[in-house]
Amino acid sequence: MNYRHAFHAGNFADVLKHAALTLALAHLGRKEASYFCLDAHAGIGSYDLRSVAADKTGEYRAGIAKVLEAADPPPELVPYLEAVRRRNDGELRWYPGSPVLMRGMLRPQDRLALVELHPEDAADLAGRFAGDRQVAIHHGDAYASMKALLPPPERRGLVLVDPPFEAKDEFDRLRRGLRQALKRWPTGCYMVWYPIKARLPVQRFHQDLTTEGLPKTLVAELLLRCDDDPFRLNGCGLLMINPPWQLDEAMAAILPWLAKVLAPDTGGHRLEWLVGEDNSNTA
Ligand SMILES: C[S@@+](CC[C@H](N)C(=O)[O-])C[C@H]1O[C@@H](n2cnc3c(N)ncnc32)[C@H](O)[C@@H]1O
Repeated sequence: MNYRHAFHAGNFADVLKHAALTLALAHLGRKEASYFCLDAHAGIGSYDLRSVAADKTGEYRAGIAKVLEAADPPPELVPYLEAVRRRNDGELRWYPGSPVLMRGMLRPQDRLALVELHPEDAADLAGRFAGDRQVAIHHGDAYASMKALLPPPERRGLVLVDPPFEAKDEFDRLRRGLRQALKRWPTGCYMVWYPIKARLPVQRFHQDLTTEGLPKTLVAELLLRCDDDPFRLNGCGLLMINPPWQLDEAMAAILPWLAKVLAPDTGGHRLEWLVGEDNSNTA
């Protein structure tokens, strides 16, 4: 396991993922009933952007730093931007990862489970959330945890699936993991991050999932440039299975603005229903 999220924290991919995550959780929090969140690839939860790792790549400078500086963000993006600003004292230094963002949105009746395979990162998480009765830390494999922890007794909530894509067959592992999870909890909301290098593997991933059967699924992609160089991260996407109501409209407001701010000359976006209301079928 070589991947360390500290090198990438706050980059354009985090911006897309965390903006959507914030919107989805805000929606879940509108009903009084409790919900459960599972962050299946949690990382360490909070990142120092002045660390050697973050400074080495400087990815956050082309991501969250640009977004925070840009004028007139759409109102749909404001809760995410406020969540980042709350962790900083004027100047950007700390970037909240998905565990900290999710924890910040929980109400007293909600629960969060964090899964991380890297022993040092899992230990970091355990320290960060020590004594927090609403947060459980699991040192282990994401897909095994999805099997063990789903369905949650609350019967409402969200699963974030955010693998590092170090393994060559990650798309296949992801597909198998999702199929298993959907069998156990077909009505859960799943937010799945994927990289876009070349278009073909993404198309296959979508096609295979659709053929196997999916509930309503929205696809939101942010491209920094044309997706024809298989050796570069040209963009990234989110697959949102059983997305909260009106998340499509919120993403429609956010995506063009992000593309314009993050990649003014070459950027693009895509938002479409992979499986819509009319053709949804349950795995
Ligand atoms: C992209 S990072 C997660 C970032 C985090 N979700 C966030 O948004 O702040 C992926 C994380 O998954 C961890 N990881 C890799 N393989 C895993 C597995 N099989 N199960 C659980 N975690 C894994 C890595 O150590 C890394 O911390």
